[in-house]
Amino acid sequence: MKKAYMNIVSHEKIARNIYEMTLQGELVSLMNHPGQFVHIRVGDSLDPILRRPISIAKINKEEQTFTIVYRAEGKGTLLLSQKKIGDLVDVLGPLGNGFSINTVPTGEKALIVGGGIGVPPLLELSKQLNAVGIETIHVLGFQSKEDVFYEQQFLSLGDTYIATVDGSYGTEGFVTNVLNDNPFSFHTVFSCGPTVMLKVIEEKYSTNYPVFLSLEERMGCGIGACFACVCHRKDDPTGFTYRKVCTDGPVFPAGEVLI
Ligand SMILES: Cc1cc2nc3c(=O)[nH]c(=O)nc-3n(C[C@H](O)[C@H](O)[C@H](O)COP(=O)(O)OP(=O)(O)OC[C@H]3O[C@@H](n4cnc5c(N)ncnc54)[C@H](O)[C@@H]3O)c2cc1C
Ligand code: FES
Repeated sequence: MKKAYMNIVSHEKIARNIYEMTLQGELVSLMNHPGQFVHIRVGDSLDPILRRPISIAKINKEEQTFTIVYRAEGKGTLLLSQKKIGDLVDVLGPLGNGFSINTVPTGEKALIVGGGIGVPPLLELSKQLNAVGIETIHVLGFQSKEDVFYEQQFLSLGDTYIATVDGSYGTEGFVTNVLNDNPFSFHTVFSCGPTVMLKVIEEKYSTNYPVFLSLEERMGCGIGACFACVCHRKDDPTGFTYRKVCTDGPVFPAGEVLI
């Protein structure tokens, strides 16, 4: 983990309130694992003082670039959306433990389920799984047609199904509608998205399959020092032991923490 100023080489709106930003710099040499995140200082003044955690969506070692996709909605992410190509961004990372791709036996398939702004880290995950010969099936959920992004990029890696809550694109409803309607065959499940979706995925699959879930918690430091991101362990009836999402996660095997 390192802190560096990285140069914005592209920045564009790719869906409703969703921006894709690509940054260049030596820090990329430390980025290897899908599901890890960076902690970004969004402005040059003291307000907001806290960095914002954003997942790594793409890593390009040859060009020394990495890409993030974020939803501009709060104070910090709206500030980030105003940055221009050529601006420098203060980046701390890579942080956390990501998805472990060697949990899937070669020749097997992985089911990848994403929801909304949980979709970006799953793209790098799918790329890395495909690179070692593991087929991927992608089921991605969004609110509406205007919110859909990265469909073509996932399609280039494997079968891709889209669900929208309002039915304006793909299957109407939630990712579970797609999962219930299609008898997919796979070995391992990876998921990132809203907590309610992760809960459903855990309940549906964890008895019969290895399941890995990427959690989002509010963060202060991002490096294990402030305890802002703790969540309870499922196996501790006293409720006194916990895991830190920033350093123990954000990816956990299903059943390890209470979601
Ligand atoms: C490991 C991890 C990876 C993430 N990856 C992405 C991503 O790829 N793209 C994306 O758009 N969002 C991602 N998020 C969520 C993103 O960090 C929050 O949406 C963002 O911090 C909100 O900042 P804001 O300035 O818009 O909101 P504000 O309301 O101004 O933020 C106020 C404070 O709350 C914190 N906060 C608010 N919402 C969240 C949240 N859901 N999770 C954590 N902290 C929060 C902020 O860090 C800040 O300290 C991720 C979160 C985590 C923990
Ligand atoms: S954010 Fe500070 S301990 Fe996790």
